[in-house]
Amino acid sequence: MEQMRERVIVALDAPGRDQALRLVEAIGDHGVFYKVGLELYIAAGDAVLADLRAAGKKVFLDLKLFDIPNTVRGAAGCVAGKGAALATVHALGGAAMMRAAREGADAAGGQTRLLGVTILTSLDEETLRSELHIQRSIPFLVPDLALRARAAGLDGVVASGLELPLLRERLGDEFLIVTPGIRPAGGDVADQKRVLTPRQAFERGASYIVVGRPITGAPDPRAAFLDIVEQAGG
Ligand code: C5P
Repeated sequence: MEQMRERVIVALDAPGRDQALRLVEAIGDHGVFYKVGLELYIAAGDAVLADLRAAGKKVFLDLKLFDIPNTVRGAAGCVAGKGAALATVHALGGAAMMRAAREGADAAGGQTRLLGVTILTSLDEETLRSELHIQRSIPFLVPDLALRARAAGLDGVVASGLELPLLRERLGDEFLIVTPGIRPAGGDVADQKRVLTPRQAFERGASYIVVGRPITGAPDPRAAFLDIVEQAGG
């Protein structure tokens, strides 16, 4: 089993390479795993990936691919070719698209584990019904999409703390569950509505947690990172 500090993924939600690098340097040797999302990837993607590789870090490339299967096959191959340890695709793109992502990543070689994004936590049931004409409840949709992601060959899902226990129960121990929306005990929740502490997330079955602002916005990111690792029990 990985050490706890390898299971705390720091979200590098920075607008550019310099800010991102400063954070990685501030956390230093303790930090192992970093998430690069759309903003940073579009701003400075390949340079940041090269920096992280040079520093010996693991990368979660969170680009949430969603397109026709042929396009996603190619894009997932490129993501795998960049050496990402974790990457995301939207489960709502359908089973054929998720299978194509798997094929593309596998064909590129490497060890990229693919995660499905089920329902964005920014969408509530009212929005799903009125704008997207999806009538089912979120507690139905999330495990259903996670099971479809697994059947299509994905390695796991991104899921909020609220859904963790149900997903773990339905999907067994091997499937990865990566959980954002983490706040240290006693911390500021900012705009996250459904937050868990690091300890709660791991107790409820998270494989990894993703933490952004409690670390990246802290006066001392290294101390904040180490505090979260300690709170998580590691
Ligand atoms: O700063 P904070 O800890 O809230 O950042 C959490 C990270 O996880 C951000 O990169 C955010 O985009 C991502 N995320 C999330 N909630 C989701 C999915 C992803 O907060 N449902």
